[in-house]
Amino acid sequence: MSGDKPTFKSLCFLLPVMPRERIFIGVAWPYANGEVHVGHIAGCYLGADIFARYQRMKGNEVLMVSGSDQHGTPITVTAEKEGVSPEVIAERYHEINSRAMERLGISFDLYTKTHTEHHAEVVKEFFLDLLNKGYIDRKTTEEAYCPKCERFLPDRYMEGTCPHCGYEHARGDQCDECGKTLDPKDLINPRCKLCGTTPIFKETEHFFLKLRALHDELMRFIYDKGKNWRPGVLKFTKNWLESGLHDRAITRDISWGIPVPVEGFEDKRIYVWFEAVIGYYSTSKLWAKEKGGDWKRFWSDDARHYYFMGKDNIPFHTIIWPAMLMAKGLKTPDYIVANNYLRSNGQQFSKSRGITLAINHLLDKYDVSALRYYLTSIMPENHDTDFDWQEFAAKNNSELLAKYGNFIHRVISFTSDKFGEVPTAQPDEKDRAFLNEIEGYLDEVQEHLDKTEMKDALNAMMRIAMAGNRYMMERAPWKELKESRERAGTTMNILLRAVKALTLASYPFMPHAAEKVWKYLGMAEPIEGYGFGRALEPLETGKKMEKHPPLFSKITIEEEKSPLEGFDLRVGLIEEVKAHPDADKLYILRVNLGKETRQLVAGLKKYYAPEELQGKKIIVIANLEPAKLRGQLSKGMLLAADYNDVVSCLTVDVEPGTQVDGTSPAKKLKYQKFAENRIMVGTVKGGRFHGDRKYPAEFLGDSKDYEGAAAAIIRDGKAIVLSAGGKIITPDKEMPDGSRVR
Ligand code: MF3
Ligand code: ZN
Repeated sequence: MSGDKPTFKSLCFLLPVMPRERIFIGVAWPYANGEVHVGHIAGCYLGADIFARYQRMKGNEVLMVSGSDQHGTPITVTAEKEGVSPEVIAERYHEINSRAMERLGISFDLYTKTHTEHHAEVVKEFFLDLLNKGYIDRKTTEEAYCPKCERFLPDRYMEGTCPHCGYEHARGDQCDECGKTLDPKDLINPRCKLCGTTPIFKETEHFFLKLRALHDELMRFIYDKGKNWRPGVLKFTKNWLESGLHDRAITRDISWGIPVPVEGFEDKRIYVWFEAVIGYYSTSKLWAKEKGGDWKRFWSDDARHYYFMGKDNIPFHTIIWPAMLMAKGLKTPDYIVANNYLRSNGQQFSKSRGITLAINHLLDKYDVSALRYYLTSIMPENHDTDFDWQEFAAKNNSELLAKYGNFIHRVISFTSDKFGEVPTAQPDEKDRAFLNEIEGYLDEVQEHLDKTEMKDALNAMMRIAMAGNRYMMERAPWKELKESRERAGTTMNILLRAVKALTLASYPFMPHAAEKVWKYLGMAEPIEGYGFGRALEPLETGKKMEKHPPLFSKITIEEEKSPLEGFDLRVGLIEEVKAHPDADKLYILRVNLGKETRQLVAGLKKYYAPEELQGKKIIVIANLEPAKLRGQLSKGMLLAADYNDVVSCLTVDVEPGTQVDGTSPAKKLKYQKFAENRIMVGTVKGGRFHGDRKYPAEFLGDSKDYEGAAAAIIRDGKAIVLSAGGKIITPDKEMPDGSRVR
């Protein structure tokens, strides 16, 4: 420590040791009905892990748990689609997702699943306790029932329009768009997800959680703890409460799930949301059993409880789970940390709609630290964000590699080249000012992490790297070396401390990269137990310093080509229809294409009266060479299907000018080139397009669940179903499957 004045921090060891706090971290359990993707990870797992690692670095005891949510209709719907048992789905995705979590370095103390004896036992005991205490009662109610399928339609088996936000694919229990929990009777235009029939309501007996009995206690809880939540979380909770606290059904008419431990209910199961949240508690016990810890220490009143989740999970964690805990007499949550959604090109990632960027796939291709870095930088803490491939590459190359990796690499390489070991230091004012600056950033990182502001913390961490690079340029040790080896040595000694501080500060975000650097620095103590207080202490002088390969490599992303690249298809509104003066088969149409209006000449006279076309929305190929038809200019062509002298225009109800999904304004297209494509109309059913034969159906827009008439373009044995603004393009009248479009 030669030349260093003692600082407050270096004297800290004289102060009494701060008691270690106990931090319980519950992270929402992902449904085991698909692979976890970037949306889930940025939504809650990564933030929770950053926080857990940070707390462990502070010397606190952490218990972080989660697992696969294996019950309920999300699993059975997927199982039915694939024609396998729910168990197969639940186990398959548990395996895949456990592996993804591990590869990503999400440091759970236990990641388990809900389909276990242990969990079922704890849930049963929980349920009966609430029943005995009078917090649960049974009622006969009317539930949605499909007369055609002859079954009840719990939760995901029913779909309709959300009465709160108008979203058309809201489910029986919840709207994914606005997050409100729903009662099946609230849905506007309800339909059976299996067959589309309008459900009837039929009597059935169920158990209810008496939320109303807990009203006052819940209000006090939200008033008391809500102060510490992000404004969005509180707002969401208050919104939910506005429609009043109603008793909630906690059993369902299905056969997959945890049995109801009451006679006469053998055919019913406990509602997945009542049971999965108990996982936080059952897993704490399981952890104690398996790893020999003491779960009660984490559930005592002085422990702090954090829950991480996506915004659609808020009411279950701010109202229902707390109510259950109160009824049971267990500790209620302290902090509810909920993020908005991470989208891809503006669409919500959703396993049930099949738009995925699966973690395992990404990790097969990209460095785990690069992925964690990018996902932290776009974490949807306060508003929805987008996953963007080009931005991913750009951030890796110009931030992680050019700033963070480069700084570390330069400092260690230069030290190794010129000194071969950690040189001694005689710091001057400037060096001390630099270290102070770094200390300021370190404090900022911690302040933000304490408040679960991961993005701001990440930025503060990167400021250390930027300041380090700047200082190295300023000092220019390669020049100093020519005048004074000692002076250059001091610079490197100081810079090595900055590297150490940067490594510690980056550990919660990028543990894999940080662990590597920690080794390069020759640090023997484990990084997690080292502590921020010693971050800027000098490295042991005289310690050998070796060169190492660069930490990161450049990422280039090739633009993924849409299969409809080269087509410029747009939705047009026919504003005027005139007969062609010199041809009896042709109309002259004035078509509004949003920003422009075009004249089209079309041979529709035989098939449509002018009134029928007027006001119709059609699909226009906008990049064909203009053609003259009997002296009239036609700037484009409309798409229509024909079969045995019946002609049907393709249509879709979106704003004129809307680009067909997957197409973009493109250079001129020759008609010959266009005509080589096989476009046809048909019927989408069960994931297949029935045209001239059956093809696997692919969607470019947000309409994976669509069934019914559609137009598609056939490519490589698959049918790419055409849509615009996410809405499926259909023929305007019934046409036989396989009718060609030209
Ligand atoms: N499986 C639910 C979802 O993906 C989350 C359940 S959180 C739990 O939305 F705590 F209830 F398990
Ligand atoms: Zn049905």
